Amino acid sequence: MYTLEEIDRILENSARLSTISREPATLYEPLDYMMSIGGKRIRPKLCLLTANLLSDDFRNPLIYPAMALEVFHEFTLIHDDIMDRSDTRRGCPTVYKKWNENVAILSGDVMSILAYKYLAYAPQAVLPQVLDLFTTTAMQVCEGQQYDMDFETQPFITMDDYLSMIGLKTAVLLACSAKMGALIGGASKEACAALYDFGYQLGIAFQITDDYLDTFGNEKVFGKKIGGDIVNNKKTWLLVECLRRAAGEQKQQLEKLLQLGEDRRQEKVEAVRGLYVELGVREAAADAILVYHKKAMDALAASGFDPARTRVLAQFAEELIHREK
Ligand code: IPE
Ligand code: IPE
Ligand code: MG
Ligand code: MG
Ligand code: MG
Repeated sequence: MYTLEEIDRILENSARLSTISREPATLYEPLDYMMSIGGKRIRPKLCLLTANLLSDDFRNPLIYPAMALEVFHEFTLIHDDIMDRSDTRRGCPTVYKKWNENVAILSGDVMSILAYKYLAYAPQAVLPQVLDLFTTTAMQVCEGQQYDMDFETQPFITMDDYLSMIGLKTAVLLACSAKMGALIGGASKEACAALYDFGYQLGIAFQITDDYLDTFGNEKVFGKKIGGDIVNNKKTWLLVECLRRAAGEQKQQLEKLLQLGEDRRQEKVEAVRGLYVELGVREAAADAILVYHKKAMDALAASGFDPARTRVLAQFAEELIHREK
């Protein structure tokens, strides 16, 4: 079995090899740029970790599909940054800021196609299942992204609506990553389903953590501009819970704050953050993260593998919810 550090090293080498130095540079340079400015690589890591429950064979039929997950994720980030008007990611300018929107659109497109090229390396015996899983997931991510955008202008969203939205935009890709490693490793149908659920619940915890850090994180460490979600009226876990809790004067204050735009960014971010603290939303978010982490751990236990083998996955999940970036 590999340690997390060994898997990190394998993935960094693979990321370097996944870059494409081809013409035109304006199409391919954003890929190399994204791959070189960091990123936690959690999706390919999850894929390698579940495959490693069954085998130590980390050759191309596993490594390329794992990199497909990363390249697809990087594509979603490039387009997401246009949609969210975010100018900083991983402490660097976003692709559409560094180049322009047209470059970001097309280089994103080519990355989503490249993901399929890498996916096709999966072992022949499981290739149809891998393709079906990945394609279904990719469509769901788009659905989630559209709900996320639609929710910006909807005044009230229930917690169930929110959970379905993040399930689609974020959790299914972690679920797919966990299941893909298991499929390629040759796990049983039951184990694949349990590991999918593990990835899904962990993905929910992961997105709530992302929402939390977008408001309460340290900008230098997080690498994204703090408060972007508040400025965009994103229906994050924090805002959904705050809208639910606020009453009377605080409700009126919140409604007024939601009218403010980018020109009054600082005032809006500070005041909304203040309400999150006053109404106990900040602490409740931290508790919610633990609830979904626990669900993930239950799913991992249900996968039927010896706890000695799932130890590294458990360590990975633990680090993910306590992260600062
Ligand atoms: C950011 O994903 C988008 C979300 C789903 C929250 P990551 O936090 O995995 O981004 P990188 O790849 O590490 O930069
Ligand atoms: C992103 O959600 C989900 C996808 C990219 C599919 P966010 O918009 O919260 O991600 P960040 O915070 O920009 O990384
Ligand atoms: Mg977004
Ligand atoms: Mg975003
Ligand atoms: Mg975010």
